[in-house]
Amino acid sequence: MGRRSRDSQGDGAGVKDKRPDTKLVHGGRRKEWRGRTVAPPVHRASTILFDSVAEMRAAAPRFGQYYYGLHGTPTHWALAEALTEMEPGAAGTMLYSSGLAAVTAALLSVLSAGDELLMTDSAYGPTRRFCDTFLKRYGVTTLYYDPLIGAGISELIGERTKAIFLESPGSLTMEVQDVPAICAAAKGKGIATLLDNTWATPLFFPALAAGIDLSILAGTKYIGGHADVMLGSVTANSDWYPTLERTSWDLGQSVSPDDAWLCSRGLRTMSVRLRQHEASALRIARWLETQPQVAAVLHPALPDCPGHEIWKRDFKGASGLFAFTLKGGGDSERTRFIEALELFGLGYSWGGYESLVVPADPERIRTATRWEAEGPLVRLQIGLEDSDDLIEDLAAALGAYRAAS
Ligand SMILES: Cc1ncc(COP(=O)(O)O)c(C=O)c1O
Repeated sequence: MGRRSRDSQGDGAGVKDKRPDTKLVHGGRRKEWRGRTVAPPVHRASTILFDSVAEMRAAAPRFGQYYYGLHGTPTHWALAEALTEMEPGAAGTMLYSSGLAAVTAALLSVLSAGDELLMTDSAYGPTRRFCDTFLKRYGVTTLYYDPLIGAGISELIGERTKAIFLESPGSLTMEVQDVPAICAAAKGKGIATLLDNTWATPLFFPALAAGIDLSILAGTKYIGGHADVMLGSVTANSDWYPTLERTSWDLGQSVSPDDAWLCSRGLRTMSVRLRQHEASALRIARWLETQPQVAAVLHPALPDCPGHEIWKRDFKGASGLFAFTLKGGGDSERTRFIEALELFGLGYSWGGYESLVVPADPERIRTATRWEAEGPLVRLQIGLEDSDDLIEDLAAALGAYRAAS
């Protein structure tokens, strides 16, 4: 291999036809952005200096062009381009300071006063809150729908419907949605489809290829992967990318280059991490199914999970987050179980290398559907610890639960 081809190694332009794992490693690593280092350095900037008034006047806030700090530096472009390359059919990616900021910017890009939004009843709580408070205040109504509605969404589409928001699997209760059927119902009607794809990432579910217009990731989870950074992204097709870009800059949205850099770093190893999360989570989910204290395990790759057949049809893998319900008992017994765990941290978020647990009560937030279960719900994020140690920890805590219930 001659010097010329060596110099172009990692040049983003060369990975379009490659397989997803290769794209994760090489995507966005253009030589013009990274120089002679493997990783693009952290470029911090507010002001960009121009050489002449003519150059300043000719400049525009466009992807990959120096303009003003808000519009990014090579550190941001490298991450955004790598994420765009992961989604066949994508025109571009915008970055945000959190996953929630990505959700809200995407919604504000596609909705105007007087519009109606169809929102899955299984959405992440703060997404719901944004609809019920902020969007309501600006004249957008939200109609919640059953996450398992599939093609039946057609019956809910009215004259004012301008967007359908999906999250698959759903937060806490893990329902897998029929994304292609819902997108087919929206197509040709001027209705935008938005998916919170944080659980699967484009590695396990390339969303735009399934018909989604705007795919949202909380990079805080698997992209960062180390529980030490907050970031969000929206990847859009050519119908929506220009509006997304304009809206995001009008809102003054940006992300610190240090955080973009951390997520670029995380992205390169996401595939191996996800496969380890997947293997351990599945093993633990199957083990939980056999435990007498467990009523049901809600893991998309297991038959008890609503929408499991759709997961089998559409997804290339499963990540490390799932839920289960305890048999009988109430909040105090669940608390005793959770507090008996030693290796599972008690805290919000997920997608890092460490295992986490949270108690969850979906019955308090659902409006379109009723959540009913034999006992209280527990959500687990399975980290990269040895799964034997995690099983031993869970077994001991289930023993404490039995003693309490
Ligand atoms: C499914 C889902 N979407 C979005 C978010 C928001 O991401 P962030 O915490 O980066 O704001 C979360 C956070 O837990 C989430 O679970």
